[in-house]
Amino acid sequence: MYINFWYPIALSEEVSNEKPLEVEIMSLKFVAFRDTEGNPQVLSNTCVHRGGSLSRGKINGDHVACNYHGWEFGGDGKCKYLPTNPLDQKPPARAKVDAYPTEERYGIVFAFLGDLPEEERPPLYDIDVFGKEGWRANDVVVFEVNAYYQRSIENGMDAAHNEFVHPLQGAPSILENIRNIPIDVKDESEWGCGFMYQASGSASEETRAIGASEGKTIAGSSHHGPNTLITRINFSETRGFAQYFFEAPVSDSRTRIFFVNMRNWMMEPDKDQPLIDVNMRIAHEDIDVIEGLDPVRTPKSTAKEVLTPADKPVFRFRDFLQNWDERGWRIDWKELQDKRGDVAFAIPCPARRTEKNWVLDAVPLMEFEKAKPKLKGVG
Ligand code: FES
Ligand SMILES: [Fe+2]
Repeated sequence: MYINFWYPIALSEEVSNEKPLEVEIMSLKFVAFRDTEGNPQVLSNTCVHRGGSLSRGKINGDHVACNYHGWEFGGDGKCKYLPTNPLDQKPPARAKVDAYPTEERYGIVFAFLGDLPEEERPPLYDIDVFGKEGWRANDVVVFEVNAYYQRSIENGMDAAHNEFVHPLQGAPSILENIRNIPIDVKDESEWGCGFMYQASGSASEETRAIGASEGKTIAGSSHHGPNTLITRINFSETRGFAQYFFEAPVSDSRTRIFFVNMRNWMMEPDKDQPLIDVNMRIAHEDIDVIEGLDPVRTPKSTAKEVLTPADKPVFRFRDFLQNWDERGWRIDWKELQDKRGDVAFAIPCPARRTEKNWVLDAVPLMEFEKAKPKLKGVG
């Protein structure tokens, strides 16, 4: 699990100016609310006075008020009102919690959970066809799985499972193609890679049922950062699905997924629900597999797996993770678990780079030596 990326916090409609919302990511608690201008605010949930849970408090104008002694914090994380102090006295500089940059897109509130200054931040993934004429989005579907998020993303970066996990979608020709044509993994940006392959003849029973029958399908996946997966299925030049999975690790064994499905055909609104039903049926086939993987977290050493050329996209994804390891962005999960209960941690927010006086410990991070990219070793 990494700091310094954008994480989905909640659906837009769940973040209100009436009641603070508690959200758990990476086993840390956050509070989300809206200020009087309707802007979403996301703060570390632990009140620095004596550990109150801000999400159990209430919203007072632009502030969230702790339910223990009424301290109020603004969207910038600073204490604005400290009820027991003289009214003309400013709250102490240490009376602040971490406050995270937010963006609201696609009907989802995202927060940048990290301390990078704006110009260095990886961007939130841009769905370029969102809101574009000729494309329709389903309502966002949120679901949780009892699996580690990396297992989920790797499952998405894997063409070879389709035939076995999704028998209604697969056809022998998919396997033929994978066997005979090396998967061409390309870096799509500084933050991810992807591939497309010909899943020719895959107009299966289920895809035919929703109207795809041209029989020549190009499909593939890519990732953006550690926790965004994109899947594209093009039945023809003009008929396709583009699917976006924004994933939040709740813990090392649970993941919350925000799923946006875009399409440029079957534009009628009454197709929304049948398409969600098909997609969730497919998702449950994946969930059934990834919830059974052992170990729960991806092994640290590839010596503990037997990887083949068909696993290239997974390998390349891991190269990216390794790069973020080397930057020191990976949370030390073991240490975090060891100290929990005695220590309240927060993901460091950007203000930690410029201000002192933070009360909570920043979440422990791992140190890695620079290593060689792994891709060459596949075979
Ligand atoms: S613990 Fe939050 S105000 Fe005292
Ligand atoms: Fe799948």
